[in-house]
Amino acid sequence: MSKIFKLGVIGNPIEHSLSPFIHSRFARYENISVDYIAYKVEEDNFNEFINDFFANSLSKGLNVTLPFKKHAAEIHGSLSEEAKFIKAVNTIIRHENRFLLDSTDGKGFMEDLKLNKIDITGKNILIYGAGGAVESILYRIILDKPKSICIINRTQQKASRVVKKYQSNFQIESSINIEVNYDVVINGSSAGLTGAFIPPGKIKTNNKTCFYDLNYSLDKTPFCKWANDYSSNVFDGIGMLVNQAAYSFQLWFDVFPETGKVLNDINSLKK
Ligand code: ATR
Repeated sequence: MSKIFKLGVIGNPIEHSLSPFIHSRFARYENISVDYIAYKVEEDNFNEFINDFFANSLSKGLNVTLPFKKHAAEIHGSLSEEAKFIKAVNTIIRHENRFLLDSTDGKGFMEDLKLNKIDITGKNILIYGAGGAVESILYRIILDKPKSICIINRTQQKASRVVKKYQSNFQIESSINIEVNYDVVINGSSAGLTGAFIPPGKIKTNNKTCFYDLNYSLDKTPFCKWANDYSSNVFDGIGMLVNQAAYSFQLWFDVFPETGKVLNDINSLKK
């Protein structure tokens, strides 16, 4: 009988996670047997959970979501350069007798941009929000050499802190430049999920401007509803979600799974 590998995602809340659905399908398409479960863990029990989970020799790895991405970056193991820089981990891999710790969010985002033919090189980018989700994509965005990046946030100080962290690498600012025509507008804030969605102030865009929400929902997100008044190039975070999952799956099984079918399955559930 073939081995059934134990996998899962830990977070809190976790009830609405699509990760078990996505990874079970990846595994089925790749003919790998997995038991992938969403685990709700209390913050104080994080370390205990990790020890218990990996006590089983068939436990291959875990995905990590809010609020544990920073906790996971503290696990004793080998941290990727990217995870070290952003101080967040979304994938734990058991490799022989040690842990490899990585973040696939940024790569998943870039892959989805590519699939949707959104080229950011030489473009003006506006990002709304300055939390962990934004940091996870910024690392990769900068590697693609956009022309400028502007980060705006409800708490201005936090935007300034992120700008400062990346300043030495790149021209980046923390207030809207009314002279700039933005080509890509990204929502990395949880406005609308926590509290009301108050759109960023007036921005200059063009008829090719793309709007991308890192959040996802089977309903239209508040950001996507707002963005539809500006453009028909509006994307939510489902593509990023499926692609970051695919990169995690690749870290565990050395194969990049077929993503198109899973994306279609999820999109067909949309209202
Ligand atoms: P995540 O890891 O998901 O990014 P986070 O680090 O808590 O979570 O960041 C949440 C982001 O959404 C922050 O930029 C937050 O703004 P503040 O820095 O001012 O807290 C933003 N955010 C949350 N609720 C918001 C709201 N109602 N309006 C505007 N921004 C909001």
